[in-house]
Amino acid sequence: MKPSKARRNRWDDHYTERARREKYPARSVFKLQEIQRKFHIIKKGHHVLDCGCAPGSWLLYSSQLTGPGGKVVGVDLQPVTVHVPNNAVVYTGDALSPDEALLTAIGDGYHVVLSDMAPSTTGQKSTDAARSHALCSAALNIAVRVLLPGGSFVSKILQGEDFQSYRDEVRIYFDKVKIFKPKSSRKASKEIFIIAIGKV
Ligand SMILES: C[S@@+](CC[C@H](N)C(=O)[O-])C[C@H]1O[C@@H](n2cnc3c(N)ncnc32)[C@H](O)[C@@H]1O
Repeated sequence: MKPSKARRNRWDDHYTERARREKYPARSVFKLQEIQRKFHIIKKGHHVLDCGCAPGSWLLYSSQLTGPGGKVVGVDLQPVTVHVPNNAVVYTGDALSPDEALLTAIGDGYHVVLSDMAPSTTGQKSTDAARSHALCSAALNIAVRVLLPGGSFVSKILQGEDFQSYRDEVRIYFDKVKIFKPKSSRKASKEIFIIAIGKV
């Protein structure tokens, strides 16, 4: 049975309110926290690339995990308006078709690449899933280019007909690939996370 609208709203309010209390601009932070608790992806001193970083929750959380000896680079179409910590930098740009200037600014030598990129949605499931797949493919291309051997890649995808082929493509480049649905992700949402560990 589907949860009632009132119940879904209470659930939304709970995470939104918690994010506000903990000074994160979006509740999406709880998804990365669950991923981190389960897979221990980000370590002190790591260099992390955060694709689709606005409004900045993953960026803030990652920068705490890496500490002052680490570095977090964020990229988004939208500017980030929260205070960016000293060990982080944000570039406004398009990760779907990054130009040479953006690729040069990003550089390489990363331990972790994250992508929480989400397309503007139409409400038409197959179109939204295809757009999400395009962003995931772009994120994978970037990850393959910038990750150190042994590095990790986390990518959010809206499940659609391309999901299996995308997962198989990720498997080419990484030792281990897991699929993870955080509890803080709406059950009704088609989003799921691919956790790829050990870039070959
Ligand atoms: C769900 S939000 C990310 C939330 C973020 N992880 C956080 O915790 O604050 C998805 C983001 O993907 C970005 N995005 C969508 N398409 C993009 C593209 N082609 N290049 C860069 N960012 C993109 C959007 O602008 C949006 O800010």
